[in-house]
Amino acid sequence: MRTQVGIVGAGPAGLTLARLLEREGIESVVLEDRSREHVEQRVRAGVLEQGTADLLVEAGVGARLQREGIVHRGIELQFDGERHRIPLGDLTGGRSIVLYGQTEVVKDLVAARLESALPLLFEVEDVTLHELDTDRPRIRFRHDGADRELECDAIAGCDGFHGVCRPSIPPGVLRTFEREYPYAWLGILAAVAPSADELVYAHHERGFALLSLRGPELSRLYLQCRPDEDLDEWPDERVWDELQQRVALEGRSLAEGPILEKGVTGMRSFVAEPMQHGRLFLAGDAAHIVPPTGAKGLNLAIADVRVLAEALVSSFRGDATGLHTYSARCLARVWRAEHFSWWMTSMLHRTPGDDAFDLRLQLAQLRYVASSTAAATSLAENYVGLP
Ligand code: FAD
Ligand code: PHB
Repeated sequence: MRTQVGIVGAGPAGLTLARLLEREGIESVVLEDRSREHVEQRVRAGVLEQGTADLLVEAGVGARLQREGIVHRGIELQFDGERHRIPLGDLTGGRSIVLYGQTEVVKDLVAARLESALPLLFEVEDVTLHELDTDRPRIRFRHDGADRELECDAIAGCDGFHGVCRPSIPPGVLRTFEREYPYAWLGILAAVAPSADELVYAHHERGFALLSLRGPELSRLYLQCRPDEDLDEWPDERVWDELQQRVALEGRSLAEGPILEKGVTGMRSFVAEPMQHGRLFLAGDAAHIVPPTGAKGLNLAIADVRVLAEALVSSFRGDATGLHTYSARCLARVWRAEHFSWWMTSMLHRTPGDDAFDLRLQLAQLRYVASSTAAATSLAENYVGLP
């Protein structure tokens, strides 16, 4: 088999890249090791920056997003028993975010790919990369019981944090930067109308909590928990009870409903530099991870492939400059998002062992953001996404 761009991973990065390349007449093959059902059902991010939503619309996969996505022009910070609205739109010249689940983004992209009858192989096994230093890199894998080899002009490593692409880069090439946090998020999806009109990020002595949503009758809620938290110790009543303690306020009760999904997500900051080696280009979680508090993970993945698609298209038309500068262009945005995500995370979570001094610092920072237009604008422009 031969193609122009071999794409490993059918998450938001890989599928969006394939779509952008298709629009420019560039061939690609997408290889995914899980099943279609699995990738379409994995509950993850929910906040799209306006730029991300616009790109999906321009790429012709935004019709349902435009119908069903919920536009928000503010978020709320809760601390000291009060909520403070950050008017994102007013502070950023009218920019907004769209609430639309990553599951739905992936479903729309898979449907578009299949409708175009372009290659997207699920349940591939034993993916390995070869000859990355040459202009004919190869991907070997098994599919439907047969060994296959795909010869490419370039390979896009869009296979997430635990994928095979980043580890295929020879030792000594990459420099990695990492921070693990001593907490995680317990997330639930619940069949109940959201209790707040906008997202609520709540600072509480018992730990952080977040109210989000996926639709008029679908709530997504998170609680700070231990990284090794055992879900068996969290029957539904305990989850609701803990959420009530952390977010319910007088006159702002939290409605409960059946829990449809429950999971624990670890928190990590990670960057690999550079995001390329030879003819392999890493994009999305394969190259960097942010803790979810800034809602940046999915948006960064889409921002990477926008740059990568442009660079690949130019190189097929004879100008390879964009491919040489791919990593540097992406990393500038990545590090800004890393800082913002780390900052939001540190401001809102209780760290085990922290003392009254740390708590006072967090509250001082939250009060500053809630009362200073300059500080709120900084949060807002990072949250809606920098250009
Ligand atoms: P992924 O979505 O991870 O896609 C990579 C794809 O590659 C997957 O489909 C995987 O199956 C496939 N793959 C892996 N290995 C191979 C292989 N060897 N061969 C072929 N295919 C392979 N962000 C937020 O902003 N908010 C959240 O609430 C949030 N929750 C998250 C919860 C979890 C459990 C995780 C893991 C991430 C969460 N994120 C969240 C981050 C966000 O979902 C990611 O940043 C986003 O999915 C990145 O997209 P991606 O395409 O780069 O990677
Ligand atoms: C979500 O809705 O899943 C969500 C929202 C905001 C975040 C993280 C996750 O910061």
